[in-house]
Order: sequence, then structure tokens, then C-alpha cells
Amino acid sequence: MSQREVLTIFERSRKGRPGYLPPALDVPEWELPAGLGRSTPADLPEVSESEVVRHYTNLSVKNHHLDRDFYPLGSCTMKHNPKVNEQLAALDGFTSLHPLQDVSQVQGALEVMVELEEHLAAITGMDAVSLQPAAGAHGELLGMMVTRQYHLARGDAHRTRVLIPDSAHGTNPASATLVGFTAESIRTAPDGRLDVDALKESLGDDVAALMITNPNTLGIFESRIVEIAEAVHEAGGLLYMDGANMNAILGHARPGDMGFDLVHLNLHKTFGTPHGGGGPGSGPLCVVQRLEPYLPYPRPVREGDGFTWRLHPPEGIFEQRIHGTYGNFLVLVKALAYILRNGADGLRRISDMAVLNANYLKVRLQDVFPVDYPDGTLHEFVASGRELKEKGLHTLDVAKRLLDLGYHAPTIYFPLVVDEAMMIEPTETETLETLDAFAEAMIQIRREADEDPERLREAPVTTPVRRLDETRANRAPVVCWGGHCD
Ligand SMILES: Cc1ncc(COP(=O)(O)O)c(C=O)c1O
Repeated sequence: MSQREVLTIFERSRKGRPGYLPPALDVPEWELPAGLGRSTPADLPEVSESEVVRHYTNLSVKNHHLDRDFYPLGSCTMKHNPKVNEQLAALDGFTSLHPLQDVSQVQGALEVMVELEEHLAAITGMDAVSLQPAAGAHGELLGMMVTRQYHLARGDAHRTRVLIPDSAHGTNPASATLVGFTAESIRTAPDGRLDVDALKESLGDDVAALMITNPNTLGIFESRIVEIAEAVHEAGGLLYMDGANMNAILGHARPGDMGFDLVHLNLHKTFGTPHGGGGPGSGPLCVVQRLEPYLPYPRPVREGDGFTWRLHPPEGIFEQRIHGTYGNFLVLVKALAYILRNGADGLRRISDMAVLNANYLKVRLQDVFPVDYPDGTLHEFVASGRELKEKGLHTLDVAKRLLDLGYHAPTIYFPLVVDEAMMIEPTETETLETLDAFAEAMIQIRREADEDPERLREAPVTTPVRRLDETRANRAPVVCWGGHCD
């Protein structure tokens, strides 16, 4: 219903007499200047409101999502996204912004950005922030671009190697490679942390950076991080933190205090924006002072009592380009709302509960699905489906069977350092009842693997489509648009 229609209805209701029922509403047609309108109606499909509502309601439950049920997707932090954040981000003044508007008209938006930058700097212990990157991987890319410019400016063009643990997310080596660096893998030690001796052997005066996730993708804190930072800095490299797992340490530990020079955050994971399916994200890059000049422009800044844009980098600094405008603005609004609503104590409690929930599930499941790196679990843990191989079954079969039982699967086959990996991250907002029900489902599946393996092999049977050839779907997708398929 158009706004005009709504207004007309209320307008006539105010004019009406009590008890008098007016004739049906004649909504005025769109008023285009004469000669511009069509002489005959367009041949468009006609659907009723009920049909439209049913169509979208049906679509909305075809896939699994957080509003349907539990979604323990490790490394992806599929957490509760407060609905109030959506309402705030939907405010007219935010949704109708234009990137080229005069600063006098966008003071509120600039304030949102500057305030968010300041909070993220405080949370990470860093000095400056760019809100431009539109995803975690985009933040990594910017981090690598900044790293390269920093070394080039110092005459260190020969620093071309970026060291990355073998447990890292695939975007880490991809980002380093895109910028022209050579990505090199450092092995994980038996305790699930980076092998510091192997790192020290690899360090040299051609190293540009160590890119490390903390806590890492096994859910374990890199407890020797200060020693690691000293070794990397001594070799003249920068220390980059993939901060996608920040949910584990919010309010407890700051990358800046650990010796990191750069860190990207995933606002769409840690700070309450829905994600998945490639939805809009935000991966701000936070840096120490000496790297600030290499951040992209324009940058929102305070000026007197108000705000403005600083348009260009300091004289002589190469201007980086990472985003057409100033980032995914509405995600920034949601992140600021999330931070302000929870406050310092609330953010710390989010981490506390995320860690408690992961540890609870680990203890409930480790007897049925072994956990190779069980000590020091923070927000997630990685179980293995390797014992199922004896029955000719795999982790993929567990993932598919979970769909039949009403759950989204954990992340599977990642990190690569665990055979038949299942990476489970429950997040802070799930109840004890939900965690127990999920644990029971996993235990049931393990029992079925012994007693009725066919059940797992055939799963899923309750979803709109059964098992897909996922590799083919990725490599040779059939894309349909408006009734036409390629
Ligand atoms: C540890 C880690 N690093 C980086 C990324 C990349 O983030 P994004 O998906 O926002 O590009 C992810 C997300 O999948 C991740 O889990």
C-alpha cells in the first residue's frame, strides 16, 4: 500500500460522521504530467496481497536461518541480531543519505561514523580506524595494502613474504596474494597454537607481516602472542590480527595491548548485524598510529563542535582506494547501536557467555565426536567425524542429517588441521535448553551411524531439495532470471 493510500484513508476517516459508511476508496492515480502516462495498462502479472505474503513467507522458511532455529556455524558467529537495530538503521534520515550530500546535511551520519570509530579504537586498543571495508576479507585486503605501502615508504620493497598459520581462514592467504605478497604457511603445534619455533625459523628481513587469528580458528587463544609480536617486530615485520573471532575476547583483551599493528573486525559477526548469503557486511580496519596515514580517504573527522570529511591523505602518501563511498553505512548504524546498548559491561558479558556456551557443548559432545585440541577452548571448538569413516560415513553426512532434525550444521571441513572437522560456535545468546537439545541431536546421529547408517547417507529428507552436487553448483551454476536460465 502506498503512503498516499494510507494518508487518504485516515484523512477521510477524520472527515466522516459517526455511523456513516463511505463508499469504497478511489485512490488517485499517480500524477504524471499529461502525455507522459501510458494510454493502456502495462501487461504485468496480477497477484493478490495474500499470494505475495504467502510467497515470501514460504521462501523465508525454505532455508535455515537464525529466526527458525539454532545455527552453530563455527567462525561465522551467527548470533542474535537485536530487532531494534534494524529499526534504528531503517530511520529515514539514514536510509535516504547520498554520499555526495553537503556535510551540513549529514552531521548525524558523520557523528555515527566518528563515534563508532572511537569505540572500535577503544575496544581494540588501536589508534585509528577505517570503516570503509565491506566485509572481513575486504578489511584484510586493506590491511595488506596498508602493510605494503608502509614498507614501500620505508624503502623496504624487498619485504614480500606474509606468514600465515596453517589453521587460518582461506581469505588470509588470498588477501596477501592479491596485494602481490607471497603467502607462506606456518604449522600448528600439538597444543593447537602457532608453532613459535617454526615461526622464528621463517622470520627474516624479507617478511612483510605475520597474519594471525586470535583466538585462532580452533577457538584457542595464542597465549605466546607477546613473544610472537616481539619476534615479528624484531625482524622488521608488522603483526596483523584477523579479528573475526573477537566475540571471544570482547572487553577482556585488546589486540593493541598484545602488540598488534593492524586488526580487522567483522561487524556483521561480533556486533549484531545479520549475515550469510553474501549479505552486506562491514570489516573495519583498526591500526596503530604509525599506519594511520595509509588509511583510505575520505575520512570522517571532528571539526569544532561538528563533523566533516578529511578528503585526502597527508602530502606524499599514496592514496588507497577500497570502496566507492564510505562503507556499508547501515551496518555501521547497527554496530554503534549494539555497542551503546550493551556498554562495556555488556560486551564483556557477551564474551563470557559465548565462551561458557562453547565449553558446555564441548564437554557434552567430546565423548561422541573427539576434539583433537581440547584445551583452552574459548568461543568455539572443533570436533572430528573421523570415527564415522569406518562405517563409510563422513562429516558431511552428519551435517545433512542435522538439517532433518531442525538444525543448521556447524562449519565443516575447516580448519584444515582437523580431519573431518566440525567447527561448532554456539554464541552467547542460546539457552541451556537449546544447547542440550542440539547435543542430544548430535548424540542421536552418532548412535544412528552405528545402528542405521543409511539414515545418514539419505539425509536430508525434510528439506525442499535433497542432496545437491555442491561442487557442480559452485563451478557450473545455472543462473535463472526473469524466467530465463543460463
Ligand atoms: C577467521 C575468519 N577470517 C576472515 C573471515 C572473512 O570474513 P568475511 O566473510 O566477512 O569476508 C572469516 C569469515 O568467514 C573468518 O571466519
